Amino acid sequence: MATIAFDVYGTLIDTDGVVSRLREWIGSQAEVFSKTWRSKQLEYSFRRGLMRHYENFAVCTRQALEYCCAEYDVSLSSEQKDMLLQSYRGLPAFADVEESLVALKAGGHCLFAFSNGTSEAVEEVLRANGLRECFEDVVSCDGLKTFKPNPDVYHYFMREAGDSKDAWLISGNPFDVIGAISAGMKSAWVKRSDRVVFDPWGIEPTLTVATLSELCEKLDINKP
Ligand code: 2OP
Repeated sequence: MATIAFDVYGTLIDTDGVVSRLREWIGSQAEVFSKTWRSKQLEYSFRRGLMRHYENFAVCTRQALEYCCAEYDVSLSSEQKDMLLQSYRGLPAFADVEESLVALKAGGHCLFAFSNGTSEAVEEVLRANGLRECFEDVVSCDGLKTFKPNPDVYHYFMREAGDSKDAWLISGNPFDVIGAISAGMKSAWVKRSDRVVFDPWGIEPTLTVATLSELCEKLDINKP
């Protein structure tokens, strides 16, 4: 049975879950605002990792929100910003998540949540979606004070999970898949939209699936 790390934001949890609230406040800019918010959040984590100037992922999220307000010339009150950041802690899971995690756990696989987010934030968002019990544990990059895709965080995961030979990362984020494979893990890319492009670096996912339900079928085929 496999040790399986699930990336959280963008894989289990839909970071576009704030769009409906945003739409009430900023109308048709909501979609593009949400996409930029997410990509800036990740950019800030990459830059902080490179600069070795660590602040946790919630700080990257808050500063990315400030950036988006300036970029799109949107004026939100501090209460509205706090509400958005609070809703980040209760973002919804994608529809296929619960059933697939329950099936994988019942199949004897050992599941972990593995994220840039702090353990506290990840525990909270998993509990809000009734998913915490599916996982053996939460492993946060915050334990190393750096972010994905630093190879150290994938090695850290394998040490924490006690499996350095056969561990999988499941992620909807191509940079995360490439990071895990480069650090010696197997990795499945969850291609949640036809429009998402995998980075052409010559490093391919071990598996590509459109949904977590498909992952369940394919991992069974890949049983040793
Ligand atoms: C996560 O680590 C990369 O946001 C993604 O949860």
